[in-house]
Amino acid sequence: MFDPGEVPTPCFVVDESLLKRNLDILDMVQKKAGCKILLAIKGFAMFHVFPLIRETLHGVCASSPHEAILGREEFGREVHACAAAFSESDMNELIPLCDHITFNSFHQWKRFKPLVTGSGRPIRFGIRVNPEHSETDTPIYDPCGYASRLGVSIDQFEADSLDGISGLLFHTLCEKNVDALERTLVVFEEKFGACLSRMEWVNFGGGHHITRTDYDTDRLINIIKDFRKKYNLAVYLEPGEAVALNTGFLVASVLDVIHNKMDIAILDTSAATHMPDVIEMPYRPHIVNSGNANEKPHTYRLGGPSCLAGDIIGDYSFDQPLKPGDKLVFTDMAHYSMVKTTTFNGIKLPSIALFRPDTDEFRVIREFGYPDYKSRLS
Ligand SMILES: Cc1ncc(COP(=O)(O)O)c(C=O)c1O
Repeated sequence: MFDPGEVPTPCFVVDESLLKRNLDILDMVQKKAGCKILLAIKGFAMFHVFPLIRETLHGVCASSPHEAILGREEFGREVHACAAAFSESDMNELIPLCDHITFNSFHQWKRFKPLVTGSGRPIRFGIRVNPEHSETDTPIYDPCGYASRLGVSIDQFEADSLDGISGLLFHTLCEKNVDALERTLVVFEEKFGACLSRMEWVNFGGGHHITRTDYDTDRLINIIKDFRKKYNLAVYLEPGEAVALNTGFLVASVLDVIHNKMDIAILDTSAATHMPDVIEMPYRPHIVNSGNANEKPHTYRLGGPSCLAGDIIGDYSFDQPLKPGDKLVFTDMAHYSMVKTTTFNGIKLPSIALFRPDTDEFRVIREFGYPDYKSRLS
């Protein structure tokens, strides 16, 4: 472990050996199952480590032209794009960059078909389908919820408009084990199986928590192998979270300790601006050497420096009282964190650092300052 005392805060720190561990698991799955795994850039876009990731993963999936440009520039290999809708200017940016473009509706496919098929580039086109099988309880993370805009449902599916389409994509999961994929595949095959003989590939989307310790990788491998054999198709997976799961930390300092009905520590990191999923999801991130409220002798409500009353990370307890200057280390902060930060209140963005345990090297790769705040405004 790096020495938190040496880390300028706030700072995201990614541990390269933990990332390599995840990549080894994903590599094993790819090789044994005969599928291709892509990095979903929306979840983890620390491009400094893309050269390492591209040794294992086959490419990236992008949700926008900007992500596709980043993927092409910094990752290489295959660049796939899929979004709820594209504009014509999006298409003009994506065409020179992408190997796969997946449309979210037949309207979009038919509208852009002349443009994309006339481009002269060997792009493969897909349709995102929605099996309408919910596996996720939190509505904002459930692409299969009532009236979802994400993917074509079977009643809107136009089997006679598939000319030029070589694959289907479904993305239905969020932080799920393989049983959720298994159940989804049953419904997907029931609804869309009839057209799979006309397809060359199927993309199982993201949300597979493959690198979590209790994930059943053997079962995943068997499912993919069976599916490939049954339909003679290439299978893609495009996780974001599983690539960076448990590989990063957010190191913060205590700025002040105040009292209002309870002890409150104000940190130089903020739920609202540095870890918005804490509020959106919502969830309670773990802090190294902390306990739940009242579990250890000193309990504090931890909050950010912003004006938002709800900029609260949670209630935590510690062995020693907190004081200004103390460092706190939040765990599992690599995914859906640095890609989601904002400069609301002008709060400084966390630096981004890499730690290499084999050489004990700790390096701050990027620091942010006033120009990053100002450049987003005019
Ligand atoms: C289409 C698509 N693919 C892949 C992902 C990545 O999902 P995760 O990071 O949960 O694996 C998402 C996440 O929203 C998505 O919408």
